[in-house]
Amino acid sequence: MEEINNWADEALEKLIKKMPVVATRNSGRIPYLTKDGLYEDMSEAGYCWWTNGFWGGVLWQMHNLTGDELYLREAKILEEKLDRNLMDPFGMDHDSGFKWLLTAVADYKITKDDKAFKRGLLAAENMAGRFNLAGGYIRAWNDNGDGSNAGTAIIDCMMNLPLLYWASSVTRDPRFSQIAKAHAQTTINNFIRPDYSVIHIGRFDSTTGEFLGSEGGQGMAEGSSWTRGQAWALYGFTMSYLHTRNNKYLGVACRIADRFIERIPENYHIPVDFDQPYECAWEDSSAAAIAACGLLKLSECVHYESEKKNYKNTGEMLLKTLYDELSNWDDSVDYIIDNCSVAYHDKEHNFPMVYGDYYFIEGLLRLKGKDIFLW
Ligand code: GLY
Repeated sequence: MEEINNWADEALEKLIKKMPVVATRNSGRIPYLTKDGLYEDMSEAGYCWWTNGFWGGVLWQMHNLTGDELYLREAKILEEKLDRNLMDPFGMDHDSGFKWLLTAVADYKITKDDKAFKRGLLAAENMAGRFNLAGGYIRAWNDNGDGSNAGTAIIDCMMNLPLLYWASSVTRDPRFSQIAKAHAQTTINNFIRPDYSVIHIGRFDSTTGEFLGSEGGQGMAEGSSWTRGQAWALYGFTMSYLHTRNNKYLGVACRIADRFIERIPENYHIPVDFDQPYECAWEDSSAAAIAACGLLKLSECVHYESEKKNYKNTGEMLLKTLYDELSNWDDSVDYIIDNCSVAYHDKEHNFPMVYGDYYFIEGLLRLKGKDIFLW
């Protein structure tokens, strides 16, 4: 443990040194992927993209850690930029948690800004409106008005539910949380396999609610185990437990975590899909970082010492491996963590992405007891 804390202290120092340079260079921008080591800006072509809140998460975590006003100023600029998305019903989808929990809701929690509160609530109202009573799921993506995605729900949505729990807690109106719980139950019923691996995409008949089947989505194939989906489920059910204290969610989160841990390769490099061929070198560090954050939180929720230790140590090992083998602290590049992948069947793999960095930072700070809880 001593050794682990040493690396984390070292990482923290490097983070505090690098991030003011990166934040200044990215002033007014919305980072996502990198080109030649520098973040590309999503402000125009990608103004509704699901990852647009993560840079806000980085900024609020850094502001909370250092008190530096640079981060607060930039976080508020980003939050305002997301209004263009908030006012575009065709750009609003189930990913409102990722976008507004890490921006407006974070702002409200920290500064009590009334406008930020309203943004968060508007996003939650919109997300709640995506709930389909038949089937009991929150619709994932939009379509061109042809209804082709009306019956689509995805495992990632588990990580968006905290926006609904937040909305119920600040308005004392339980309907948001009822919708979140109904969606979580539908996920338990249809998205979790007997071995506690999870499916990515579920299709429902949007009129009758009948579950029609699963698709491989960003994983290798139907029936395979997409690692980031497994990480979303692990962290997402942990969040549903934290916000409801219903032990059912804790049990599910633990079984999903156990399954994730069972499949971690010896070198702790997380593949894009746990079932991909052994010789395939495609990795997803974002799955490692998300799972690490979830495991560290889960270790605070479970009751047995052996479980606590297992989840905490595994979370630490995932983060330490990212630090030792896949991090870049040179401030001439924007990113920190390399070797992420968006989807198994994409052409490109093993590159940096802003949410790989966000979850690495969140996990590192959690390990040191210095994170602000934004979910
Ligand atoms: N939520 C989309 C993804 O994980 O790629």
